[in-house]
Amino acid sequence: DDSPEDYIGAQWEESDDHDVQMEEFIPVVKPFTGFHKAETDNIRASLMEETRSMDDMFATQQNIQRGQTLHFAETKMWSLQTETVKIPDAVHNMLPRETGLKPAQYKTCSVVGNSGVLTNSRCGGQIDSSDFVVRSNFPPVGGEFAKDVGSKTDFITINPSVFAFYDNLIKEKDQRKFLDDLAQYGKPLMYTHPFRIYHQAKVCLQAISVMKKAGRMDQVRASHPDFLTSVGKFWKGRGLQELRCTTGLLLLAVSMSLCEEVTLYGFWPFTSYNGHPVNYHYFDRPTIGTKEFKDKSLERELVQHGSFHNFTEEFLFLNRLHDRGVINLHVRPCS
Ligand code: CTP
Repeated sequence: DDSPEDYIGAQWEESDDHDVQMEEFIPVVKPFTGFHKAETDNIRASLMEETRSMDDMFATQQNIQRGQTLHFAETKMWSLQTETVKIPDAVHNMLPRETGLKPAQYKTCSVVGNSGVLTNSRCGGQIDSSDFVVRSNFPPVGGEFAKDVGSKTDFITINPSVFAFYDNLIKEKDQRKFLDDLAQYGKPLMYTHPFRIYHQAKVCLQAISVMKKAGRMDQVRASHPDFLTSVGKFWKGRGLQELRCTTGLLLLAVSMSLCEEVTLYGFWPFTSYNGHPVNYHYFDRPTIGTKEFKDKSLERELVQHGSFHNFTEEFLFLNRLHDRGVINLHVRPCS
């Protein structure tokens, strides 16, 4: 039967000779008992040393020389891809001179994942009250979403898949739409990854030149490929097995470097919370109870069990950091 309830029930079926039904594993997140400063400082120090985050979080004229040949961050996974790129002078000229970052320069930071667990969370006020708010992949904010996710945005990472919604920013009308949509966040730093994978370089550089044309280069930051690689190694060195970290773990490395106290919202890669169904994204429409919801759930299962990310493993890893007082993994609704 095609009924969506099969999926909303947070279970999936495997048809073999006989049907096997498995309950989805739903972890328990204990109430947060406070930040453990010594432990957090310790991890931040190792993170900054191993990833050189203060110097390498962004590509700059200091960490990339004029005419330098760079290795893309992900070549092994995409073995047929071109592995290196010689940085053209025009690109080098656009890079900021240096990152200008300082360790733990903010007291409180919120990293907003995009899970549907944020729907009806009433966490918007709490998120907006932090000193530095990090978001990912152009989620809608403000308006009807304000009460649950807030609107303050200081740093927003953008995967190349987002540029596809703007037809890769070739036509002027798409460029204008992109700039308008970016304006809903105020003036955040926009973090893109032109040096992560060869086939994504062009569209990211196109986005950067759109920003340049609009006189908004002060908002643009490109990741240094060595930083992306070392962040993956850093989390793996602490027990994570998955092949490729999610955007969420990249943002955790960014915010743990820049903030004393990091709270994560909207990290919940599970299909239900407290018995209520949860969308993969808080902005997914149409939602629960429809065929589209079922399809999205299926898609999510594929991602979860796919070859790159392992969301469940990652969540359990975050939950351990939460138990140790290194991060506050905030899942429950806000008061
Ligand atoms: N996230 C989560 N649970 C969800 C959705 C997102 O824990 N239901 C976390 C993941 O760590 C994810 C991050 O929030 O990387 C940001 O969400 P999103 O931008 O939607 O990431 P995806 O595009 O789904 O995944 P990625 O960019 O990591 O491939």
